[in-house]
Amino acid sequence: MNIKNNKILILDFGSQFTQLIARRVREAGVYCEVWPWDVDFKLIEEFSPKGLILSGGPESVHLDDGPKVEAKIFELAIPVFGICYGMQAIAHHFGGTVIPSDEKEFGYAKVDLTGQSQLLDGIFDEKQGQLEVWMSHGDKIDVMPAGFHVTSSSATAPVTSFENVDASIFGIQFHAEVEHTTQGRKIFERFLFDICNCDKLWKTDNIIETHITNIKQKAGNDKVLLGLSGGVDSSVVAALLHQAIGDNLVCVFVDTGLLRYKEGDQVMQTMADGMDINVIRVNAQQMYYDALAGVSDPEQKRKIIGGLFIDIFEEEARKLENVKWLAQGTIYPDVIESAASKTGKSHVIKSHHNVGGLPDDLELELLEPLRDLFKDEVRKMGVALGLPKAMVYRHPFPGPGLGVRILGEVKQKYAEILARADHIFISELIKWDLYDKTSQAFAVFLPIKSVGVVGDARRYEYVITLRAVETIDFMTAKWARLPYDFLELVSRRIINEIDKVSRVVYDISSKPPATIEWE
Ligand code: XMP
Repeated sequence: MNIKNNKILILDFGSQFTQLIARRVREAGVYCEVWPWDVDFKLIEEFSPKGLILSGGPESVHLDDGPKVEAKIFELAIPVFGICYGMQAIAHHFGGTVIPSDEKEFGYAKVDLTGQSQLLDGIFDEKQGQLEVWMSHGDKIDVMPAGFHVTSSSATAPVTSFENVDASIFGIQFHAEVEHTTQGRKIFERFLFDICNCDKLWKTDNIIETHITNIKQKAGNDKVLLGLSGGVDSSVVAALLHQAIGDNLVCVFVDTGLLRYKEGDQVMQTMADGMDINVIRVNAQQMYYDALAGVSDPEQKRKIIGGLFIDIFEEEARKLENVKWLAQGTIYPDVIESAASKTGKSHVIKSHHNVGGLPDDLELELLEPLRDLFKDEVRKMGVALGLPKAMVYRHPFPGPGLGVRILGEVKQKYAEILARADHIFISELIKWDLYDKTSQAFAVFLPIKSVGVVGDARRYEYVITLRAVETIDFMTAKWARLPYDFLELVSRRIINEIDKVSRVVYDISSKPPATIEWE
């Protein structure tokens, strides 16, 4: 069974929601890829998709430099589905006109089904024939293209969807891929299964089986080296490779002394003891503290931490014999980003080392078994492979670790205080059922002293800041409205249990203007 036989191609016109389209398609059980809108047509032909989706985008198709659809895609005789800009590009191509709206329409809207629709019939919210949808567009269709009929409209736009059933071409002005369009998943299912006749093959079990077969084929009896960080991606790569090649996988785990509370031991317990994976633990804590002594500039700290990792990893790699491959946890969003079209044709999807800076003379070939997966697919795979849910669904943790959460100079003493405070914060979040409601939460160490009174004694010690944010993409974030009672309890526990802390504060800055991390 080739689970990629049944596939959809998404041509990206630059919408912030394009990856969401891909996730909806995959969630429905169909493999898809996202390519730039101007990719060479020959590659589309070779890819041989069962259907095409044209994404939204920020530009205007009526302007000379607005991206246009490649005419040849309509000769492929496969269904085409345009969303927002994608729909406008279809309209423009077939002789319709698209004009600027008086106002940009953004947010919830109700659309009424106005004619028979292969795509939308029988799909509705509260009332037959009506959909609640999410709009985000500045242009609208003014004159319909020949051969198409209108299937829905809203109070502000006369054409919110259209189709040409004979040619199997569909368009919607609204964004079916965002959660706010409540029937969005059904609309995608209609397109995938009823219109494109796809089968549901893209499921976690099948994905694992296929990936294991591919890894076996590629690596054969070679040895594979992997840098394990404790994060989701490298842990899932380890679990997957272990299933595929067993003891030929060698992991190097560098304990930097800047990890979360007892994280080094946990990684060893889960991966080495629990799953019987070959893990070499390098206790490099002191090396990191020595290298960081006296350094307070954040960028310089990042450079030192990253550089030392390369040195240690390289040293370990040189000790091993017959290693042929370097595995890394690149995932699909990294691949899409590096292939995104800026101007002109760009379709070369390059591999790049996450472990950038390793010398070429190690002669390791790159193995990236998660390269075609989204984060949610990686997580599902991790759980299915037996990794603990708590590890797989953990908040993100920056590469430089506590190094960028200790403001200014990093010292062992500070790292220990911070790890303990962070642990109290995180374990209470879990207890209060708030962990999954925040996207990222952590403590920050401030190397300034503040006066307090604990019991009868005066205390003149350090300050801990708690930071918790809600975000979807980490580009913007809102500070989390955690309950006062919760914050009070965490503050009290930190001050009572850690005698080097005299004060706890809560960070109420959103991003922008503040970043999520403090350095
Ligand atoms: P900022 O602080 O830029 O963080 O708002 C956005 C997201 O990126 C993470 N972050 C990093 N991750 N190396 C990493 O691997 C870094 O140097 C780094 N700096 C920030 C941060 O934790 C947040 O999730």
